Amino acid sequence: MQVVSVIAAKGGVGKTTVTANLCIALATGGRPVLAVDLDPQNALRFHLAADPGAGDTAGLVDAERGVCGWAQAMQRGHQGVVLLPFGEVDDEAQVALEGRLAAQPHWLADTLAAFRLPADAIVVLDTPPGPSVYLQQALRVSQLNVVTLLPDAGSFATLPIVERMVDKYCRPRADFIASTYVINQADASRRLSRDVLQTLRDELGPRLLGVVQQDQAVSEALASATTVRHYAPYSQAVDDFAHCTAQLLERFAPAAGAHLYR
Ligand SMILES: Nc1ncnc2c1ncn2[C@@H]1O[C@H](COP(=O)(O)OP(=O)(O)OP(=O)(O)O)[C@@H](O)[C@H]1O
Ligand SMILES: [Mg+2]
Repeated sequence: MQVVSVIAAKGGVGKTTVTANLCIALATGGRPVLAVDLDPQNALRFHLAADPGAGDTAGLVDAERGVCGWAQAMQRGHQGVVLLPFGEVDDEAQVALEGRLAAQPHWLADTLAAFRLPADAIVVLDTPPGPSVYLQQALRVSQLNVVTLLPDAGSFATLPIVERMVDKYCRPRADFIASTYVINQADASRRLSRDVLQTLRDELGPRLLGVVQQDQAVSEALASATTVRHYAPYSQAVDDFAHCTAQLLERFAPAAGAHLYR
């Protein structure tokens, strides 16, 4: 089992979009994929659930406190992805959950290990913005991080926040591979976007997994409750996410199978 965390210091940069599209591209390439929503916003299901209107509110929160089993908490997602939503929770239950997670630093690592997923399975974790107990849990089990950035000065300035967390929770582990970066919502028609993009490319070098252009197919697919790949198969975004996925697989196993995703 390989574990990828999609993380960012800032909100609204596209973590959930990147998580969903990496999952779809990985599953399209034949990998078993478990997508886990670690964000109380519970929004990953809008991108991935095959039947988002099913009305089932179960998820990670209920399974963690034993209200339902893990299999019951999971849902069928598009393209054969298995989705573990965060679930619906009120403020008190959320605070209680966060207390338990803080007291059990390896809860997520232990929980994922107990699923006994196939050796070629990839678990992709969507996380809330900035430091949180969810991000700590994710980083303690993550082998590869995908830091999502916008090509703007704000994203650039917040890079050290996630880097400090990665240094703390990932780098000491022998199974940690790397932190990689995706620049999302690049807009070639805007000069500032082009300039910041170039600065980021120079700064990140080989740590840059890829650049995803701003593409209205992304928000239209979300509004249509389907995947970008299904909504606009020949869109720029689908191409960009396929490239990022190939690069991601290359980090796990250099030169093995990455050609399938180009
Ligand atoms: N490449 C893109 N092109 C066009 N729109 C995009 C792109 N990526 C993301 N978006 C849009 O930007 C918005 C924010 O994306 P998303 O919810 O994935 O961000 P997030 O980082 O997960 O946010 P949060 O911090 O709230 O969890 C969404 O409306 C999404 O459709
Ligand atoms: Mg999100």
